[in-house]
Amino acid sequence: MKVTQATAPGKIILFGEHAVVYGQPAIAAPVTQLRATAVIRDSSSGGVRLSAPDLSRDYWLQEVDDDDPFAGAVRVLLEAANLVNPPDLKISVRSDIPIASGLGSGAAMAAAVIRALAQHLHLANLNNNESISKLTYKVEKILHGTPSGIDNTVVVYEQPVYFVRQQPENHIETLAIKREMLFLIADCGIASSTKEVVADVRRQWLADKEHFDQIFDSCGRIAKAAKEAIRAGDEKQLGQLMNDNHKLLVQMSVSSEELDRLVLAANEAGALGAKMSGGGRGGNIITLVEKSREDIVRDSLRLAGAESVFTSLLTEKA
Ligand code: MEV
Repeated sequence: MKVTQATAPGKIILFGEHAVVYGQPAIAAPVTQLRATAVIRDSSSGGVRLSAPDLSRDYWLQEVDDDDPFAGAVRVLLEAANLVNPPDLKISVRSDIPIASGLGSGAAMAAAVIRALAQHLHLANLNNNESISKLTYKVEKILHGTPSGIDNTVVVYEQPVYFVRQQPENHIETLAIKREMLFLIADCGIASSTKEVVADVRRQWLADKEHFDQIFDSCGRIAKAAKEAIRAGDEKQLGQLMNDNHKLLVQMSVSSEELDRLVLAANEAGALGAKMSGGGRGGNIITLVEKSREDIVRDSLRLAGAESVFTSLLTEKA
């Protein structure tokens, strides 16, 4: 029996959250420690069986509606391959990326399923990053309506991505990195709705456009400088830019006491820099650390209330 396995990482926003909604650049990166894994097995059970044990789900492909993202990942691949009658398969997916945490679990699951299927079915024309990213984007649309395109790119290419939301097409640039960089991601344990925080920033912007446009412009300048720092492998500069970006997010009132406490704890323990990441008012912070300081910063984050701490090591290849 043939078995094929593929994986995809989670993602995190490094720079430019919120300002990206107003046309400023943002940078996202893969979270290498957290991965979704898809396994495909030939079977003789009369159809395509989908299994997601983490979600306690086990069902037939033909049983589910168009809005099911797991089935969606299988369908977009079969459609792209013009496979109307696919062979009997058992497809299972597992993920250690926390769901609904802003860490890209949906995109990673879709990318892992699509890559594993393209390999299993020997679809040479679809088994490449460009096609897998495009197909993953289609699944993201089922989940998020009008996603920016940053998540699918990051999880498929496993590289930092510089992104500008613009018409008619978003600007997406993958960033090669010069030297290894170690990030810790700490979850403050408080859930928050990105949609609501984005709406609140909009209310504040409408009430004082001049002030908020200045903040967004500054975020944009930071993201541009960060792109150069990543390319140059300048960790000190990158850390400073993270601290600067965090201050601007505080000014937007999207940080919180818990997030600020984690950012402070990381910096006091000797991190190169730290900031909240994503929608804010809950969720995660991200901090850049030297290898020799990893354990100290991790302990300090735990003591300051982090519920979990993940690692993302960006390597020269990634
Ligand atoms: C959320 O992860 C990032 C935000 O900038 C929202 C968005 O870009 O859609 C806050």
